[in-house]
Amino acid sequence: MMMRKRPRRLRSSASLRAMVREHNLRPDDLVYPLFVCSGKKVREPVVSMPGVFHYSVDQLGSVIDEVEGLGIPAVLLFGLPASKDDRGTQAWCDNGVVQQAVGFIKRRCPQLTVITDVCLCEYTTHGHCGVVEGDRVLNDETVALLAATAVSHARAGADVVAPSDMMDGRVAAIRDALDGCGFEDVAIMSYAAKFASSFYGPFREAADSAPQFGDRLTYQMDPANGDEALREVMLDVEEGADLIIVKPALAYGDVLYRTKRASGLPVAAYNVSGEYAMVKAAASQGWIDERRVVTESLLSLKRAGADMIITYHALDAARWISED
Ligand code: PBG
Repeated sequence: MMMRKRPRRLRSSASLRAMVREHNLRPDDLVYPLFVCSGKKVREPVVSMPGVFHYSVDQLGSVIDEVEGLGIPAVLLFGLPASKDDRGTQAWCDNGVVQQAVGFIKRRCPQLTVITDVCLCEYTTHGHCGVVEGDRVLNDETVALLAATAVSHARAGADVVAPSDMMDGRVAAIRDALDGCGFEDVAIMSYAAKFASSFYGPFREAADSAPQFGDRLTYQMDPANGDEALREVMLDVEEGADLIIVKPALAYGDVLYRTKRASGLPVAAYNVSGEYAMVKAAASQGWIDERRVVTESLLSLKRAGADMIITYHALDAARWISED
């Protein structure tokens, strides 16, 4: 058969395939999320996220060493405070769990980039990401508390703060507050396009942050909206975000692709808890090959435009890359 174009030619050997491969996964694409809790000697498994643990600050040493040893450049910290109240006071208090963890990590591994999640939902009794009045989540009151939280993380030594609340105007307010306190070099990684997603289910168990009434539909985005995601992204770019997060990741490849093109900033995909739990559950049944599925999924995010990937698979993925 006469056929001039035969795409299979370039697939005929492993070395040719390697030569024409467009994307590769590397350990320095990855960010590893960590849940830090109060107390001592705690290393508690999160049931819905096999392989993920709550660590008290004194137990962080070995996992941090592992992250660094595998060549993963950054961790993203979430806090589980000893106590909660209706304003999330523990989020911005200078000896909070995240603030202590930041200090511990920066002393132990100064080269590792420490990113902190800035939100109130893990710290409020009602589980909403902001200050509540009746059944409303108040925007501007919340923004002031988020700015205070970001400053306290910076004071503890955080390199990057990552607001995940989806209040309007918080990136500008956080930038101003950081600059006002002399933290011009602390970067803002904004969860600019964060959807009201059911894929966060296991995280809310892990972080004990499920809303006690209502839902997050008045602040997180409608999963039906791609153009709105771009508007959110461009607002955060204007407000001074240094990095942009798209979240969740796997069901939002179109948003990731558009964000990368439109924002002109480095973009992170957040491969969230529900995405992780589904893979773990199917793999534990022998229904999928975990290593291949994870590698393929993470690679798909790079193909869609992610410069970095926040994922609970980071340790395994980095190990697999080093074995290849
Ligand atoms: C806090 C926050 C959430 C996640 C990251 N930061 C939960 C939420 O918005 O309800 C989800 C992360 C995950 O599912 O892995 N606002």
